Amino acid sequence: MKNSAPTVLLGVTGSVAGSRAIELASQLTKGGYLVDVVLTSGALHFVRPLAFEAVTHRCAYTDESHGILAGRAIHIELAERARVVLVAPATADLIGRYACGLAPDLLTSLLLATAAPVLLAPAMNTQMWKHPAVRDNVALLERRGVRFVGPESGLLSCGTEGPGRLWPVDQLYAKIRELVPAETHLLHPSKQGRKELAAPGQRPFSLPSEEDKSKEVSEMAEKKKPAKKPTTRKTEKNSKKAPTSKKK
Ligand SMILES: Cc1cc2nc3c(=O)[nH]c(=O)nc-3n(C[C@H](O)[C@H](O)[C@H](O)COP(=O)(O)O)c2cc1C
Repeated sequence: MKNSAPTVLLGVTGSVAGSRAIELASQLTKGGYLVDVVLTSGALHFVRPLAFEAVTHRCAYTDESHGILAGRAIHIELAERARVVLVAPATADLIGRYACGLAPDLLTSLLLATAAPVLLAPAMNTQMWKHPAVRDNVALLERRGVRFVGPESGLLSCGTEGPGRLWPVDQLYAKIRELVPAETHLLHPSKQGRKELAAPGQRPFSLPSEEDKSKEVSEMAEKKKPAKKPTTRKTEKNSKKAPTSKKK
């Protein structure tokens, strides 16, 4: 089955709010989107690619994946596949790199390469959010058309209270739905039997197709069958027992 679900590129950066991006990836996938996840090296301190792969049923990419994907530079391929790019959580560092037009890693490279709408969902300590450098970077990016969703105010994990909390996952999901509606009736990726291409340096990640699965099942069944013994027909001659001579 050809999959026409829109692709959301979810960027994840180094924040304690990283685990909420797993919930978001799961919700987007269940909502009918294909979700390509790109994690920065900072994000890897908090969350692992496998958690995202388990909920999106697709490869999750890191800086280790830098190379060729589907015959193209990976940041270009991912940038062009995306109907929308959402970075959640977005750190002060990521916002700064993006505002300066720096592209030292996969996520910032594709942010510069994409023509899709970009949404940033910041998460950081209140003082960081209020810092003039961050305020200037946010204002500069907004002038360039980047949309900011959140942060909301509340008690932060660092113990301070104020703006800096990642926007609620449900609201981030609703924002994506508003920008890029998806057909909810589309098959969940786990039912689509897609095979994902692995980038260099990354383990291949693939889902078996229904055809592969049934082949696998019949091969297993074949293996379980007991090996056939060579059939020896009993003839009158060899069925006759030789007289046994008992030693006394
Ligand atoms: C425990 C811990 C929590 C952090 N949480 C945040 C955060 O919520 N927001 C933020 O902007 N930076 C946070 N940082 C700092 C970033 O991880 C750091 O700036 C890193 O370079 C970000 O890299 P990245 O933007 O490439 O992911 C945190 C650091 C640590 C050690």
